[in-house]
Amino acid sequence: MKRFLVMASGRGSNFAAIADAISKNQIPNAEIVGLICNKKKAFAIQEAEQRNIPVILVESRRFLENGTLNRAKYEETCLTEIRKFKPDYILLAGYMLVLSEKFVLEFPNQILNIHPSLLPKYKGMHAIQQALDAKATLSGCTVHFVTPLLDDGPIICQKSLEILVGDTEESYGARLRPLEHAAYIEAVKKLSQSAN
Ligand code: GRF
Repeated sequence: MKRFLVMASGRGSNFAAIADAISKNQIPNAEIVGLICNKKKAFAIQEAEQRNIPVILVESRRFLENGTLNRAKYEETCLTEIRKFKPDYILLAGYMLVLSEKFVLEFPNQILNIHPSLLPKYKGMHAIQQALDAKATLSGCTVHFVTPLLDDGPIICQKSLEILVGDTEESYGARLRPLEHAAYIEAVKKLSQSAN
């Protein structure tokens, strides 16, 4: 059984979709062992509780020093919790903080992320808005391995979706969401079937 740990900061719809696919036996040989969340009010926490998935809340705001995140201390606290779960993979699903090189290098080719563009296009924040601003007619989503460079690691799965006239960040994001779920489920399936 491959052990997947999820990190999320918000709605948690990707997390919920993966958890549900596992419970419906659509992803054999996989289990979600826990959720690490950095926001107390994140809906992802409710999604976890409804599914009896253990939640560890490590509130990033508690690590603010003069308004700046003490990333080393925050991540060390997360890592202490994460190691206890002994995950095979860590899934970033709407996790809104950038991981340090130290963190990423502890889990080489074991951390995945979902990004709302066809990488390498439109890296970073507001990827959908970037695509709209560029007057692109096609964008999509990408599940990729996380490396120390932001939104840069090897691609595992991509799905494309046309941008319609009049689309906003919100309308496009809403239409893209089911494709994100499908892409992430496909990626998790690939990993859970891999030999190592
Ligand atoms: C998704 O749009 C994903 O592409 C981005 O954050 C969002 C997470 O959504 N990285 P959810 O919390 O899984 O609903």
